[in-house]
Order: sequence, then C-alpha cells, then structure tokens
Amino acid sequence: MQEDPRILELRRNRAKAREGGGADRVAKQHAKGKLTARERLDFLLDRGTFNEIEPFITSGHDELGLETESFLGDGVVTGYGQIDGRTVYVYAQDFTIYGGTLSEMQSHKICRVMDLALRNGAPCIGLIDSGGARIQEGVKALGGYAEIFRRNAQYSGVIPQISVMLGPCAGGAAYSPALQDLIIMVEKQSFMFLTGPEVIKAVTGEKIDPESLGGAAIHTSVSGTAHLSAASEQEALALARRALSHLPSNNVENPPFVQNGDDALRMDESLNSLVPLDPKEPYVMHQAIEAVVDHGSFLELQPHWARNAIIGWARIGGYSVGIVGQEPSVMAGVIDIDAADKMTRFVRMCDCFNVPIVTFVDSPGFLPGIAQEHGGIIRHGAKLLFAYSEATVPKITVITRKAYGGAYVVMGSKYLGTDVTYAWPSAEIAVLGAEGAANILFKKMIDAADDPAAERKRIADEYRAKFNNPYYAASTGDVDDVIEPKETRPKIIAALSALRDKYAPAPPRKHGNIPV
Ligand code: HXC
Repeated sequence: MQEDPRILELRRNRAKAREGGGADRVAKQHAKGKLTARERLDFLLDRGTFNEIEPFITSGHDELGLETESFLGDGVVTGYGQIDGRTVYVYAQDFTIYGGTLSEMQSHKICRVMDLALRNGAPCIGLIDSGGARIQEGVKALGGYAEIFRRNAQYSGVIPQISVMLGPCAGGAAYSPALQDLIIMVEKQSFMFLTGPEVIKAVTGEKIDPESLGGAAIHTSVSGTAHLSAASEQEALALARRALSHLPSNNVENPPFVQNGDDALRMDESLNSLVPLDPKEPYVMHQAIEAVVDHGSFLELQPHWARNAIIGWARIGGYSVGIVGQEPSVMAGVIDIDAADKMTRFVRMCDCFNVPIVTFVDSPGFLPGIAQEHGGIIRHGAKLLFAYSEATVPKITVITRKAYGGAYVVMGSKYLGTDVTYAWPSAEIAVLGAEGAANILFKKMIDAADDPAAERKRIADEYRAKFNNPYYAASTGDVDDVIEPKETRPKIIAALSALRDKYAPAPPRKHGNIPV
C-alpha cells in the first residue's frame, strides 16, 4: 500500500528540520570538535526521552534585507525530556543556523520552554552556542533577549536554571546564563564575553584572543562568573546531570534523597588528628569535608575562584546538603570580597531550593586592609550576613578551629538562626586573635611594663588559655556541644534527620533589599 503523501511530506519536513544549517555547516561544527544541538541533547537526557516542540518555526525579521536562507527551527532546538527519570525542559542553540544567534522567533521558542518549565515545576537547562543578538533582526533580537532575561529573573528561585556553555556566548547571550543558578563551561571551547575581540579591536585597536578574554579558565578562576568547567562537552553535560541530582525540581519540593550505601554511623579516625596542635600550622579543610560526606559525593563549585572559601553540594547519609566552609590552607581561610560573594550566592541558592546548609568554620575573620575596605568589604560581607540570616533551611555549623569575630557571627552562629552548632576541641572562638586583643585591651599595662614584649606574651597567653578552646563558648551556650571530630558525620546526619520538617516562617514582604 502506498503511504499517504501527507505523511511523506511530514517525514521530509522533519528530516529537513533535523539537518539544521545543512551538511556543510554540520561538518564545520564537527571539524571544530563540537557536537550538534541534537547530539548534545541526546547526551544530556535519559536515552530516548527527548520530545521536540516547535521544530518548524522559522525566522521572522530581517531589517537589513539580507535575504538569507530560511532554516527550520531558527537556530535552537527546544523541548522536554528526562534526567534520572525527572522531567526537564531544554533548549539547545544550533550554531549551524546563523551561528545560533538570537532572533525574535528563537526567543519565542526559548521562552515557550521556560514558561512550560515554570508551569510544570521542572528545571530548565540551556545549551548555549551563540554569536549573541542576530544583527539583521535589530531591535527585535534585543527585545527577544529582554523577554528571556525577565523570565530568568522571575523564575529564579522557583525552578533550577542551568546553562551549559558549549561554544561562544557573545553579547546579550551572556546575560541569560549570568541570571541563572549554574554555569558550566568547556575548557578552550566555550567563551563568554559582552564585547568580542572584533569589537575590542575596532574600538581600542587591541588584539586579544577569546580564551584570555572570556574562556573557561578566566570565568572559573578570575571573574567568578562560571561555576564548573570540563575538559569536553560530554563531561560538561554529565556535570549538569550530576548538579541536578542535588536539587529538587522546584522550590516546593525537597531535593532527592539518595543513599549510596555509606554507613551513617561511620566515624573517620583521621579526623581526630587533622587539626595540628600548633594553631599557626595549616591543614586542609577539603580533607575534613571528604571524610564527613558520603563517599565521593562532594561536587565542589568554583574550586579555582576565591579558594579561601569552599562551596559545593554533597550528600550526607543520603541527604542533599550545601557545604560552605573556609580553606585554612589558602590565605588562612580569611573572608575577603570574593569569598563573601562566592558563599553568599551559594547560601541563597541552597535556601531557595530547600537544600540544608552545613558550614565548616575556620577563619580569622574578614581580611583587613585598604584594598578590601575601598573595594567594599562591608557591602560584600553584609551580603553574606544577609544570606545566612535570611536562610530558613536547616543550618548546621561545625567550628573546626578559628571562629574569630565576624567569622563566628557570619558563618552560622546561632544568633543568625543556625539550628545546631558543634565545635571540635581545637575550636577557638573569640572576638579576635590573642595578640591583637592584648594590644588593644592592655596597651597601657604593656607599655608600662619593664619588659613590654614579655608582658604582651603573658597577657596573650592568658587570653589564649581562656578563649583558644571551645569550652568558654560552650559554658555560655554559644555552641551546642563539643564533639570529637570523628563523630561529625553521625552528628550531622542525626541533625539533618531531626530538622527534616523544620518550620521557619518569615514575615510577609515583597522581597528583601540585599546589599548587592
Ligand atoms: C548574525 C551572526 C552573528 C550575529 C555570527 N553570525 N554572529 N549572524 N548575527 N551576531 C553568523 C556568521 O555570519 C556565520 O554565518 C555563522 O554565524 C557562524 O559565524 P562565524 O563567524 O563563521 O563562526 P566563528 O568563526 O566560529 O565565530 C563565532 C563568533 C563570531 C565568535 C560568535 O561570529 C562573532 O564574533 N560574532 C559576533 C559576536 C558579537 O559581537 N555579538 C554581539 C551581538 S550584540 P554563515 O552563514 O557563514 O554560517 C548583542 C547585544 C545584546 O548581543 C545586548 C542585550 C543586553
């Protein structure tokens, strides 16, 4: 029997849509070592779950009258599928069609999946590969970006939004990812900048290569704009799947509970000797974190930017948690402007998606000095205070060593609403370090002494004896308990279990005014 010609026509049209910008441009994309939009979606989603929508849309405007070819799909593949059995909405820009640039109709397609994601309480993931606003569409393309930005902002904190950057992300294209929860880049393949090398050259005459302008290394270690980088597209897409496994589909769900067989009562003896007896000798907080969380579950974010602070997701006893902490082996774990920004954004991300926050504190406080004061450390530090104060998710703090001044207050003191605060026997909880305190409080006594240096040391030693242990803070109820370091894992799991149904209503308001 002959096939209905209408079915044959549909098949032809579908095949044409799947061709993207044509075989030559697909070959060019492959020659660059890049996958096509559809190949990427196949890799991202559970096998066979992708359902495309609006594949027949074509571009509308051409203000320059270029009479360019009209391609089905208009440079973006959109639809929905599943990741680990959970629905996600996706869009993947197709570089083979006008360089994946944003047109009015491409914006319409992206907004459509964003709206569906919101309506159905599912994450939205964008695979970005784009030359920015499509020049020939003029203001229509700019309006198209604005439509996306507005949704990015309004849906923020309702559904997770993730951008995986797999090629250029130029001009307006950069702002949508920047408004989302997570940016993942590919080393030496993805670039993010507002004004590209061509524009810079035209304006300043300066020749600059895209990698040093806005490559993955720059955005994960200098600008702090991206969260993760990967060596290949496949690895980047796998990271997106992994990130999502720590998040709920929306803000009224809890994150998935996944046990990996790691014993909830496991105690790691090495923790008891992790903190050196000499308070000036550093140790590595990452070791403490790895020993406490479920084996291999720590997904550190921004590991190369503001390395004095640590953020990332992990599982503890199967519970998804956000880890925040200091790295005492980097700048003694001091809180500077970048560290404050890094921790603030993450605390807020955890709070909006119901992920409990576990904080490991070892910090001498805020970084002193003219550069920090002039750079606005007060404003940036205030963000961190704001974020911790505002967060209503379960908050558990472990003080491993120094919790001086601002570090004690900010990093989850019970006065900011921390639910459980534990201190290790090595904890030092004080307003500031012993020498500094002696100099300020007992200056007259030290100056009047026959041997000022010896007197300063005597006073500092006395101060240290009182505050360089957790028992003074425990005696005043400022920490809930002093625990052996090896007990940290079972103690945190017990706290997470007890806090599972935490109810912490906040006064109604439109929104706070965080000092951004
Ligand atoms: C229309 C574009 C385009 C654009 C690229 N193309 N950028 N078409 N508008 N903005 C087209 C090319 O003509 C080409 O078409 C195809 O996409 C691939 O581009 P190539 O240059 O051949 O690729 P490649 O060498 O890999 O370079 C990619 C690139 C470069 C780095 C993205 O094209 C580039 O620098 N583009 C301009 C980026 C930029 O400055 N955008 C800012 C726009 S203004 P054919 O037919 O040959 O395949 C903006 C403001 C928004 O976005 C502000 C909102 C707040």
